[in-house]
Amino acid sequence: MQAGIDQIGFYTPNKYLDIVDLAYARNQDPNKFLIGIGQSKMSVADQTQDAVSMGINATLSYLDKIDRAKVGLLIIGTESGVDQSKSASLFIKSALKLAPDVRTFEIKEACFGMTAGIMVARDYVRLHPHHSAIVIGSDIARYSVNTGGEVTQGAGSVSMLIKAEPSILALSNGHSAYSADINDFWRPNDSAVALVNGKYSKEVYLDFFKRTFTDYQNKTDLETSDFSALLYHLPFVKMGFKANQLAIEGQTEATAKRLETNFTASAQYSREVGNIYTASLYLGLLSLLENGALTPGALIGLFSYGSGAMGEFYAGEVVADYEKVLDRRADEKMITRRQKLTVTEYEEIFNEALKLPQDNLELKSDEETGYWYFAGTKDHVRQYKQK
Ligand code: HMG
Repeated sequence: MQAGIDQIGFYTPNKYLDIVDLAYARNQDPNKFLIGIGQSKMSVADQTQDAVSMGINATLSYLDKIDRAKVGLLIIGTESGVDQSKSASLFIKSALKLAPDVRTFEIKEACFGMTAGIMVARDYVRLHPHHSAIVIGSDIARYSVNTGGEVTQGAGSVSMLIKAEPSILALSNGHSAYSADINDFWRPNDSAVALVNGKYSKEVYLDFFKRTFTDYQNKTDLETSDFSALLYHLPFVKMGFKANQLAIEGQTEATAKRLETNFTASAQYSREVGNIYTASLYLGLLSLLENGALTPGALIGLFSYGSGAMGEFYAGEVVADYEKVLDRRADEKMITRRQKLTVTEYEEIFNEALKLPQDNLELKSDEETGYWYFAGTKDHVRQYKQK
């Protein structure tokens, strides 16, 4: 029995900042951001979108297509938690009307959280083949205004249904993991924005990629040339590009070209959305599936990295007719529907979103009908509403 990804849903908030506008506002050469970092836009979440609402919205895109009664597990990986105690997944479970016997919890290990959830879900489905699992990655990447990390922000969520005999990607056995207690990026309890040792974080990311990819190949007897595509956690596109350059070093022209072409396809959505932390790797998967050229059985390698730090490499095989399950036009529209902000508007929204709204003050959302949003707190309890 194979277990793997059967559905993928994606949501990003309805506003964006153009990276060229940001470059001019920060007295930077736009090419540093466009080419050196590799981003063109970034999604901006206002006060009414958070890890919960975005996770619900991402899941809604496939909810009607699945058997809700069979979902036995709901996991959210996030580092944008909305409560120090209660799992964000409980609000989501309630909005999605899942069964009371669903096991549900939140996982945190920086950008690795969603991968941890997928590994738990894969093993759960193998033991319980008649049940399925929903795994969500949902995050808002916030550094401070006018810092080096500012250009690598973003917001969004990817949700997946993991089940037996999947329609999109059958997950292979095995994985290669590597962890170390380091301080490349972190967010203290009293800070709404991340702290980062940027240059060091780039070195560690590449080091973890080399270690896990090499170890995976040694364990499985697979070679780089066996992969149709390699996917990377994409904090910004140039980071994944650098890892891919390492991967194709010394490969034949055909292998290098294939991996480069598919890397470009995988980075298409992230270039527009920015870093969505836990879900970034999986936005890359969606982008590859919808914009790349893959044949049934194609082997895809996935490198997950979460600062702190945890790295993992694993793989899966593309299932025939996977494109019939996806809705490329809807995913593209999710990105193109966004309204452009000026830098001043972005700064106002950014600063407002760092604050908890006054208790018992109902927030209004400018989202489209059908989407969920955070409506403020009532007697200190978070309220979520559907527009
Ligand atoms: P910086 O110091 O402003 O930029 O911050 P830089 O000086 O390193 O330049 C960036 C690149 O632009 C360089 O290329 C320059 O040469 C190039 P590279 O050497 O890297 O190949 N450049 C130009 N290119 C074209 N035209 C020009 C030009 N000028 C310069 N005119 C940094 C960059 C990424 C450090 C910063 O944005 C940052 O701190 N970001 C946040 C940290 C981050 O994303 N780290 C990535 C690895 S850690 C990770 O992925 C985990 C994470 O997602 C968190 C989690 O796990 O939860 C972050």
